[in-house]
Formats: sequence, C-alpha cells, structure tokens
Amino acid sequence: MHAQLELEMLGGPTEARLRRRRPGADDLPWGTLDPDAFDPHALHEARAVWTNGVFTEYASAAAFAAMAGAFLECRAPVDLSAAAADIVVDEIDHATVASRLVMELGGAVPFRADFALVSPATTPDASPVVRAAELALKTSCVGEALSISALSRSLAGADHPLVRAVLDRLLRDEGHHARIGAWFFEWADDRLGDADRRHLAGVALDAIAVYRPLWRDRCAACEAPAALGGTAPQSHAELMIDAVRTRVAAPLERLGISLDRDRLEELLQ
Ligand SMILES: [Fe+2]
Ligand SMILES: [Fe+2]
Repeated sequence: MHAQLELEMLGGPTEARLRRRRPGADDLPWGTLDPDAFDPHALHEARAVWTNGVFTEYASAAAFAAMAGAFLECRAPVDLSAAAADIVVDEIDHATVASRLVMELGGAVPFRADFALVSPATTPDASPVVRAAELALKTSCVGEALSISALSRSLAGADHPLVRAVLDRLLRDEGHHARIGAWFFEWADDRLGDADRRHLAGVALDAIAVYRPLWRDRCAACEAPAALGGTAPQSHAELMIDAVRTRVAAPLERLGISLDRDRLEELLQ
C-alpha cells in the first residue's frame, strides 16, 4: 500500500537519544533560506530533489538495518555488525536533516511510496553469508558509492550556506557507508565460492541497472538550481557513468567480483 512520505518524531526520551547520538543538527544555519529569492519553478524542482532525498535517506536506513541483521545472521565480526547498525542512525539523522531543509524550501512535494517494500530484497534460499553479501553489494558497494559522487557534485555547486551545511553533514558519514561493503567482502573472502561470486556479480549488475535513470532519460527541464543542491542533467549523467566504472566496477573487481564487461557497457549506454 502506498503512503505519503512523512517523518514523524515520537519526542521525549527517543528524540533526546537521537540528538545525543548525532549532535549538531540544530546548529546548522536554519532560517537563513528565503524561498522568495528563487524562481518558483526552480524552487519547486529543489523541493522535489530534496523530498526524494528524504526518501533515499530513509530507504538507506532500512537497507543498513537489513544489512546489520544479515551480518549478525552470518556471524560476521561484531564490530562490523555494530558499524552497519550505527549507520542506520546516520541515515535517520540524514533523513531528518533533509526533511528540515525541505520545510525551509516551502515543504515537501507529493511523494508516495510502498514502505512495506522499502528494504532491499535478497535471493530466496540464499545462504546467510550470500544474503549478507547481496545486501553489502547493493547498499554499500553500489548505492552508497554512487551517492558519494552525486553528493560531492551537489556540494561543489551549492552556494547557499544552509544547503552546504546540510550536504556537508550528509557527506561526512558517507565514506564509511561506501566502505563497509568492502570490509565485509574482505572478511567473507574465504567463505564465498566461485559460484557465489558469479551470482554476486549478477546481483551487482542488477543493482547498477536500478540507477540507470541517473544517466539516462533524465528530465532536462527538471533542473533544480545549483545553489540549492541541483546538478545539470548532462554533466550529472557523465559523472554517474564515471562513478559506476571507477567507484563501483573497479573496486568490486579488486574484491574478486568481476562484472560482465558487455552487460556493464550495455547498462552504461
Ligand atoms: Fe545518507
Ligand atoms: Fe549513506
């Protein structure tokens, strides 16, 4: 069932706990963004970009929560599982900060999603270690690796202090988010066979395919102003294609997961 994206805070001890664990959100320069200073169409696009951003942060929280559970189920080192679980809290912090920015921009655009399907699926009957590997691949080695490139590009173009502060807070955590997948594969190396690796290479290509709209069929008219975190469609497409090659495919190759070159090139068309 689809529902409108909306973040609710319970308040009290749980909100206090979140603020304690991720301090500083209140110190961002809130209240400095004047929506009237921007062209209404561009402002709408910025609201759309950041509303989508709230959802992707929320979805990342669900993905890392699934990963933390899968790590525990395959008896991965406990500090690795703790890192995955802690990243869930990073992503929830990102979702709340992005949602506050959306409010400053004038509020969310309609955005409906089926939240029952927000966690990434894994192959039915896969062994615990392969299931964990699938989640590490999709979420960290592909998703987070691409998001570092996209966020860095947005930060380079953004000149509003509040938007910069929000992007900065999001990016600060992404290094570990993109590396936890590799940490897992280094540990799991002797627990994965050749057949597992071939299977995982296919999973990685399917995960890359999900991001194809980032470099294909991107709406040229839907450009949010760079000042508010938007990026130009053409240069963004080139950036994403480069990121797939250098930040996703090449590191996976080094981890022993070789993507089929022909299929990869096909996806990057
Ligand atoms: Fe994030
Ligand atoms: Fe992240």
